[in-house]
Amino acid sequence: MQPKITFFRLLGLGGIIFLSHFLKFDQLFRQHFTAANQPVGLVDSLLSIMTLEEKIGQMTLFTSDWELTGPTLRATYKEDIQNGRCGAIFNAHTAAYTRELQKIAVNETRLGIPLLFGYDVIHGYKTIFPIPLGESASWDIEAIEKSARVAADESTAAGLHWTFAPMVDVSRDPRWGRVAEGAGEDHYLGAKIAAARVKGFQGDNLKDLNSMLACVKHFAAYGAPQAGRDYHSVDMSEMTLREIYLPPYKAAIDAGAKSVMTSFNDVFGVPATGNTFLLKQILRDEWGFDGFVVTDYTSINEMVAHGVAANEADAGLMAAKAGVDMDMQGAVYYKYLLQQVRSGQISMRLIDESVKRILKIKEDLGLFEDPFRYCNAEREKQTILSPANRAAARDVAKKSIVLLKNQGNILPVDVNKGQKIALIGPLAETQKELLGSWSAAGFDTDCVSLKSGLLAQIKNPSLLQVVKGCNINGTDKTGFNAALAAAKKADIVIMALGEEGLMSGEAASRADIHLPGVQEDLLKAVSALGKPIIVVLMNGRPLILDQVDMNAQAMLETWFLGTEGGNAIADVLFGKYNPSGKLPMTFPKNMGQIPIHYNVKSTGRPFDAVNKYTSKYLDSPNEPLYPFGFGLSYTQFEYSSIALNDKIMTKNSPVEFSVVVKNMGAVAGEEVVQLYIRDVVASVTRPVRELKRFEKINLKAGEQKTVKFTLSANDLTFYNPQNLPVWEPGAFEVFIGGNSLATLKTQFSLVR
Ligand code: BGC
Repeated sequence: MQPKITFFRLLGLGGIIFLSHFLKFDQLFRQHFTAANQPVGLVDSLLSIMTLEEKIGQMTLFTSDWELTGPTLRATYKEDIQNGRCGAIFNAHTAAYTRELQKIAVNETRLGIPLLFGYDVIHGYKTIFPIPLGESASWDIEAIEKSARVAADESTAAGLHWTFAPMVDVSRDPRWGRVAEGAGEDHYLGAKIAAARVKGFQGDNLKDLNSMLACVKHFAAYGAPQAGRDYHSVDMSEMTLREIYLPPYKAAIDAGAKSVMTSFNDVFGVPATGNTFLLKQILRDEWGFDGFVVTDYTSINEMVAHGVAANEADAGLMAAKAGVDMDMQGAVYYKYLLQQVRSGQISMRLIDESVKRILKIKEDLGLFEDPFRYCNAEREKQTILSPANRAAARDVAKKSIVLLKNQGNILPVDVNKGQKIALIGPLAETQKELLGSWSAAGFDTDCVSLKSGLLAQIKNPSLLQVVKGCNINGTDKTGFNAALAAAKKADIVIMALGEEGLMSGEAASRADIHLPGVQEDLLKAVSALGKPIIVVLMNGRPLILDQVDMNAQAMLETWFLGTEGGNAIADVLFGKYNPSGKLPMTFPKNMGQIPIHYNVKSTGRPFDAVNKYTSKYLDSPNEPLYPFGFGLSYTQFEYSSIALNDKIMTKNSPVEFSVVVKNMGAVAGEEVVQLYIRDVVASVTRPVRELKRFEKINLKAGEQKTVKFTLSANDLTFYNPQNLPVWEPGAFEVFIGGNSLATLKTQFSLVR
């Protein structure tokens, strides 16, 4: 290596550029770089010989024609790769196809700079895991990390380097379809999950063959669109932005995420893609982020529709000046940047910085050493949908299920009792809907339906009768009679109700989040027969379940569980696994309560049943149907003996809290022990509850454990009106229990 570097140095930049017109530079360079164990200065050397066009190419990301995840498709991406005008491709995968495209970049362009392949691997590549909101309900950080690890293992075997995940947008509005992709309403839980997902995707070292680059999205505050309508405007105080919405992005970056995607929305009136406050002040200056920033799909172009740029060229300038390194699909940099640099509207220094960041990641991924290292068809065959991956998916899936109701302990169903079961509902046999939104390369045919999952565990298949009853959506009730006939013959009725997989996710906001179509009518009709009913819900967001609650004895929230969905649900229904999930979002009682979240402020007129002039509705309670953190088990847990080791906390002396949790039932179970605080008096209003710690524990029947949590002054920080993080002395209440309404309480004081 050394002689070649010396050769280039001696040659000088002028000489290199002169020579590059005559030599097959890609080979020369690749030899030079590959020979090196430590390619010192590779990125700088490369940068010094790149033309401006080639640099802009590295700042350009186009979709292949394999999939459409946004409004426009470019037919010319292969020519663009060949001309060095596109340095990254998304929606192209499999070892074979990425190899084919990589060959163009490596063999047919002047410098042979390898492509970066991105894809929305949101909850699995081919082995599909539960939708992220569902996984978040497991509150099992290890399981969540494992899910991302498996996704990375499969994706990298299929030629991918980069996932557009994790999506870490906090959201308090279940109408917004993209709640399915995130970790719910709480930023503390969200931050833990964000970090776990990044670690899972990126592994210990980006250079490992099964590590893929994570992309934190959508920066920032995309989860707070007005009225829950996707792509709508966002307006909030800087205090709320910093305290509630930013922590998960920050946690992901602290965990090592090396790319960030801008969001479609505006923040403080400026679209995120041109927002210097977000991209420079917060991301680079305050957080020290040194990876690269990519736009969301055509979000530079959309700054024209936002009304902050007169045309695409100006929008491009705004984005480049704000520090956006890569343009996804908009072709704005591609069309205008060259001229803008030449005319001095934008400096070469800015371009170089962006290109350097991007090339650095390509280097970190080992692409300069071997551009084809991820395109390994043999590894692809062995890894994808392997029994181990399916087992991991089943494990995470069962942990994601939340038991919402279990009147008279009708669950679990004893599979050995030989009871006749009617499985009714539009989701009873579905494989497709189990995939949820953003199912990457997942196939519905690989999914285990609920029917198949039940049949795999019921010894005598004639005990199960399956009837659809109605469609997920629509008004057709002609299937009701068959459903009723089946229910009449059954000892127990399982109803599979919910949404279509694509009723949540991007561009899938709903103005009414009841069960769609005539499903509630079907449930009511079956319920009138008086048979015990277990409702298995499949959906991508919190739903309004008041009617379901009134007509069913048991309810399981199963989200969209992915490839192993049916098996995981059967595990829970038949008691092979004792459900342990807890809601990561509040389930409202009615539409009028939305937006809704547990960590509200008390207001100056907190609710009082007898006083009209307090904060409430005339026609609805304030309480949701199911609070944040809620979830039942087949056993019961008793919380007692809350204690603390000191009533006084100082800056340097944390306080340790403890609680005794006992499994009072006859079966083993897992419980998510949650600790919330309330800052009683502060210089600004504070939430009535804030989640600060949690731990998932396993208790055998009759077993008890003392669970300990430590809090320090740092955990009590909030943003003051100057938007600075501070902690203030004073009294704090601490609540520990199994959901956000925990009543077991203690108190301490923070002193200076
Ligand atoms: C979505 C992103 C996604 C991108 C690429 C956009 O429409 O908002 O989350 O990563 O498309 O598919």
